[in-house]
Amino acid sequence: MTASKPFSSRSVDEITGGCRLRRMRKADWSRRLVQESRLSVDDLIWPIFIVDGKGRREEIAAMPGVFRMSLDFAVKEAERAAKLGIPAIATFPNVDMNLRDQTGSHILDADNIINKATRAIKQAVPEIGIITDVALDPFTSHGHDGILRDGVIVNDETVQQITAAAVLQAASGSDIIAPSDMMDGRIGAIRDALDANGFQDVAIMSYATKFASAFYGPYREAVGTAGLLKGDKKTYYIDHANSDEAVRETEQDLAEGADMIMVKPGLPYLDIIRRLKDEFRVPTFAYQVSGEYSMIKAASANGWIDGEKAMLESLLAFKRAGCDGILTYFAPQVAQMLKG
Ligand code: PBG
Repeated sequence: MTASKPFSSRSVDEITGGCRLRRMRKADWSRRLVQESRLSVDDLIWPIFIVDGKGRREEIAAMPGVFRMSLDFAVKEAERAAKLGIPAIATFPNVDMNLRDQTGSHILDADNIINKATRAIKQAVPEIGIITDVALDPFTSHGHDGILRDGVIVNDETVQQITAAAVLQAASGSDIIAPSDMMDGRIGAIRDALDANGFQDVAIMSYATKFASAFYGPYREAVGTAGLLKGDKKTYYIDHANSDEAVRETEQDLAEGADMIMVKPGLPYLDIIRRLKDEFRVPTFAYQVSGEYSMIKAASANGWIDGEKAMLESLLAFKRAGCDGILTYFAPQVAQMLKG
């Protein structure tokens, strides 16, 4: 066979029927013109970590560029986020070890750091939305999201506990309650309790499909559950092999009163996001979790990938998959870039 002999007797125009998709890719202006998805600052929710005390701002080793902050710093960061146009923040506590117990009872303290943070941020930065996570893991001595009895995470008792916690969070000024525990029946119970206490306008963002995942590792360092957790969370989070089950969970959470749904982790689960958006057409969010953040940071620190480009590509992928917004530790950095 000689190189000069064509391998196909047909011309490219015969093969493609004259449809050359590269035509619209030829210049920046035409690529911009046909771009289907866009990332805007309005898509961003920024998760932040809060600790007690004053003047504390400690970098999380497994999450370079992410800090645990005491309230004074957290309020300043919420102000910065609002100035950047970020619509909402989501708060997570690192609770003092001596306040953690078997049942996570400190979540029921109206003056725990999450409720204090909500009041302080609401007062200083009323224009930013506040999302509070309601799950027991930062408050339990064993790092599980529920009450542990005889080796079992007990469902119904946990639901009562987080429902009471949700009402306290709403009373502190939380705009959106985000249950991340995956107990059965918690959305309906929380909705009932919010309504009964006059919080009809407080929304619920359900972690509708939260998968048992290895990508939560750095978060567990951030909230101090890494060293406590025994076993795994497979008896309450969804098996990451399952997609139909994610649809059933979501269907149930929406029927119980969820206003918006979330898929977590994010990037390995774009198929789930697309499926849920097509099926339910409700406000849909993804949580680009700690492990996803840290992978991009680590590869970029080693010079293996361009960190900024990978960050933007990963976030735009969520939009393409059907997300209305993304919880991401990159939020302030991205907002700054989109502004510039
Ligand atoms: C648990 C909770 C988790 C995250 C937020 N809340 C997972 C876990 O520790 O099992 C993970 C967030 C992240 O990885 O960024 N209620």
